[in-house]
Amino acid sequence: MSSESIQSTLQETRSFAPPASFVSQANISSVEQYQQMWQRGKDDPAGFWGDLAAELHWFRKWDTVLEGEMPNTKWFTGGKINASFNCLDRHLTTWRKNKAAIIWEGEPGDTRVLTYQDLHREVCKFANVLKRLGVRTGDRVTLYLPLIPELTIAMLACARIGATHSIIFGGFSADAVADRNNDAEAKVIVTADGGWRRGKEVLLKQAVDESLKKSPTVQKVVVVRRTGMQVHMMPDRDYWWNDLMSDVSADCDAVELDSEHPLFILYTSGSTGKPKGVVHTTGGYLLGAMMTSKWVFDLKEDDTYWCTADIGWITGHSYVAYGPLCNGSTVVMYEGAPNWPDEGRFWDIIEKYRVSVFYTAPTAIRAFIKWGDHWPAKYDLSSLRLLGSVGEPINPEAWMWYHRMIGAERCPIVDTWWQTETGAIMLSPLPGVTPTKPGSCTQPLPGVVCDIVDKEGNSLGPNEGGLLVLRQPWPSMLRTLYGDHERFVQTYFSTVPGCYFAGDGARKDEDGYVWIMGRVDDVLNVAGHRLSTMEVESALVAHEAVAEAAVVGFPHDIKGEGICCFVTLKSGDGSEALERDLIQHVRKQIGALATPDKIRFTPALPKTRSGKIMRRLLRDIAAGRESVGDTTTLEDLSVMAKLREQEE
Ligand code: WT7
Repeated sequence: MSSESIQSTLQETRSFAPPASFVSQANISSVEQYQQMWQRGKDDPAGFWGDLAAELHWFRKWDTVLEGEMPNTKWFTGGKINASFNCLDRHLTTWRKNKAAIIWEGEPGDTRVLTYQDLHREVCKFANVLKRLGVRTGDRVTLYLPLIPELTIAMLACARIGATHSIIFGGFSADAVADRNNDAEAKVIVTADGGWRRGKEVLLKQAVDESLKKSPTVQKVVVVRRTGMQVHMMPDRDYWWNDLMSDVSADCDAVELDSEHPLFILYTSGSTGKPKGVVHTTGGYLLGAMMTSKWVFDLKEDDTYWCTADIGWITGHSYVAYGPLCNGSTVVMYEGAPNWPDEGRFWDIIEKYRVSVFYTAPTAIRAFIKWGDHWPAKYDLSSLRLLGSVGEPINPEAWMWYHRMIGAERCPIVDTWWQTETGAIMLSPLPGVTPTKPGSCTQPLPGVVCDIVDKEGNSLGPNEGGLLVLRQPWPSMLRTLYGDHERFVQTYFSTVPGCYFAGDGARKDEDGYVWIMGRVDDVLNVAGHRLSTMEVESALVAHEAVAEAAVVGFPHDIKGEGICCFVTLKSGDGSEALERDLIQHVRKQIGALATPDKIRFTPALPKTRSGKIMRRLLRDIAAGRESVGDTTTLEDLSVMAKLREQEE
């Protein structure tokens, strides 16, 4: 084993075969079919992706499927395409024209349903509004909205005229909006007066006003009236959405764009430095989003599909908007919090709309576990047939709960590994093919060639932890970081020669299943053993008293690094007895080398707005240091203050 490798300690032997009733109806339904597709994707990527691309609508067919090598690849060059046309117009010539595209529910309980025809009309009108405001093909438009249908409308309107959208999640601050406006040199921003979150108004327009003091490129502001709250409207700069929409035509041709035309920029915060503007282009991205939706979510004409992500994240871009709409699916969207007005809200929505495919994040699942089984138990969840997970490794305990409590041991679970940068799901079970193991994202999808390697790029053996890389280009990969191609090359292509590497550690087990071990930046080095923090966390969460755990290293005289565990309990306060019990529990689950040095009970953990634990901040606390660097992505600043108080 190379000295760079990460020692794996997680043992998971349970395995779940796809139920026969699922297999018989699945879009991909046999191991042979998967293997044959995967092999072709590896041996003949151009042939493989070229055939699939025929399922999209092209104004002009491409000349070349794939040009260049990583990092600089182009897909479907010479082809002319439009993402908005593919998500809308295509369906209007079929029976789908009156099918629900979006079933939306606001946090206060208001609802709207837009058919494909409705959505098409609104998108065309808003595209005409954008043109009237001076937006041209190639310009950038910022969207800073709650999760309301206008967000989907605005993104597809941008796509229709070839304006590149940059969506900023509604939880970000005025400063974050200003930075992103400036980096993209956005011309127009679309926002709302406010949005609803846990019964409170999120002050979006106020944040925009603040941001525009520092972002001079933005000339016009469009404001959706959502909450009805009082906002300041600056004459000749700010316009109400409804006023602008009242007198534009509902005819707007989709612009015939190059396949490599930039569809959107999405900023992703690295652990250090300024946010990276990940650029995705049109043809390849759309193909990736469409095919993976069909394969992984097994989408059928009559599915009611709900991905709980906000469109402000890549998950929402690919699996609330472009992927499912391109497939002509019915998408459920919910504006607000999972615990408003109570902890049963998600299950209420599933029961009410008879949701069949449900895609959410481990952080949400752990919150559900903490809130108690009686919440989901109150509702009829029998419409569900498939469950998904994304965002971080799902601990086996959380996986089992999801399988039992939500899926009634009947629904396959797809644990999907991917990134903002990959644009679409890369590793995941195929629900009608792949036996699942709790905690593993299993295998690469067709068209994806992954490997676990050391820093020189040598493949590691079974159960040796190393760096997860992608060896072959794929259509939905990022093309650059906006305005900084060098940083793009440096960040993703300099660690392992010839490969794409975006920071995760992983191992493959003896069956070739991939187990993500978290970000390599989070690896512990205890007495010379490189351990994955995520595995220690999994062990802790397997204890009946624990709801959530975050594990970090801190400087230790003897061991180099000691193990500090921040633990949130399902209920009650921690005690010394429980502390001892947890330490024993981890020793038993993993071994003496992983014995925690400190256990700290805390009511909450510092998380990004997308639910990822910010271990960097916890490392500072464990080491007794001040935190430096960006904390603007933190969901709740008071969590850090509380942790620091305990320290004193
Ligand atoms: C990072 C990417 C991709 C949509 C949401 C996050 C982690 C994501 C999994 C998974 C283990 C996962 C990785 C990855 N991650 N999905 N199924 N199992 N880890 O997008 O913000 O770009 O984050 O999330 O560490 O690199 P993102």
